[in-house]
Amino acid sequence: MQDARPASPLLTVSDFERAARARLSRMAYDYYRSGADEGWTLRANRRAFRRLEIHYRVLVDVAARDMSTTLLGTKVPFPILVAPTAYHRMAHPDGEIASSRAAAELGAIFTLSMLATTSLEDVAAASDGPRWFQLYVHKDRGITRALVQRAEAAGYRALMLTVDTPVLGRRLADVRNNFVLPEGLAMANLVGAIPADGVERKGSPLTAYIASRHDASLTWRDIEWFRSLTRLPVLLKGIVRPDDAVRALDCGAAGVIVSNHGARQLDGAPATIDVLPSVADAIAGRGVVLLDGGVRWGTDVLKALALGASAVLVGRPVLWGLAALGGEGVARVLSTLRDELSIAMALAGCPNLGSLDRDLVRVAHP
Ligand code: FNR
Ligand code: LAC
Repeated sequence: MQDARPASPLLTVSDFERAARARLSRMAYDYYRSGADEGWTLRANRRAFRRLEIHYRVLVDVAARDMSTTLLGTKVPFPILVAPTAYHRMAHPDGEIASSRAAAELGAIFTLSMLATTSLEDVAAASDGPRWFQLYVHKDRGITRALVQRAEAAGYRALMLTVDTPVLGRRLADVRNNFVLPEGLAMANLVGAIPADGVERKGSPLTAYIASRHDASLTWRDIEWFRSLTRLPVLLKGIVRPDDAVRALDCGAAGVIVSNHGARQLDGAPATIDVLPSVADAIAGRGVVLLDGGVRWGTDVLKALALGASAVLVGRPVLWGLAALGGEGVARVLSTLRDELSIAMALAGCPNLGSLDRDLVRVAHP
């Protein structure tokens, strides 16, 4: 007999979050969801989007909409990328294989985290989709060099160096839960490179790993060294200031990701959408400007593009899709955001990304 009340369909990113929460362990859900400290920046990322109004234009021919764009030489059908997030196999057994295939199916760029639970080679073998690789610099520079070489050999098209994590932000739930990767999962890209033991345990094991292995003394000078390791374009991720953005380009970066790491690092960091215009002005077309942090609706994507981003990345939404329905969930989350953007562009009088200008978006009256 059929259930009288069918489960309500998953229509929005928050529907997927609810479905994911019901399936995940408390420890996994808390790790994915958390921001640092009191969660001020976590709330700010959303609040800032909610403060912005879209002053739409009418009577524009929007019968055919073109959301396509080209990012570092890769043409994508719509301007939403998968942000690098650690540990996809904790969300679903198919992990990064499923999430990367789902992105490929839609033509979206998939950024693989260095801290993935699937090796970068296995992810490369799983689909022909466009892929970027994210990494942190290790104290042992040989580990970093080897990762760069492996990413190049496996056909990753760009490197994203995350620069907002000299130490790990304090996520209180992870400390309380003593967050640890579940039995059987590993940081597959680092197997062999780091011994499993001998790590000082203070806070969560992830905190200890980063404290002992990542180089907190990294400076702008090292960016030039990093650039010299590769012929791939390098993006710096975690920039919130125009002066830092300009410095990134001066050091040879192809662009920046305006990001506060999904509010997981410095609590008190500004909402990314608030600082985007000043960063875009400083870059002034000389490099790529992407944004992440709190993008949950197609209208958020529209706002970010209007305020100067070439595209946005989504982190948690992808994890919610993966946890809820595996690869199919990731595809549905990405296509939901894509379709919401298409509707938003139509209703705002914007037939293509070039028509999204700053005048469309204004801060609401308090
Ligand atoms: C992240 N993020 C991240 N960033 C990075 O450079 N390397 C990483 O390994 C991770 N890992 C990671 C895990 C989890 C669970 C989250 C939520 C985030 C940050 C990520 O790339 C991105 O900046 C944010 O997730 C964007 O914010 P939203 O979309 O999650 O609000
Ligand atoms: C995080 C790290 C691993 O945000 O990037 O959890």
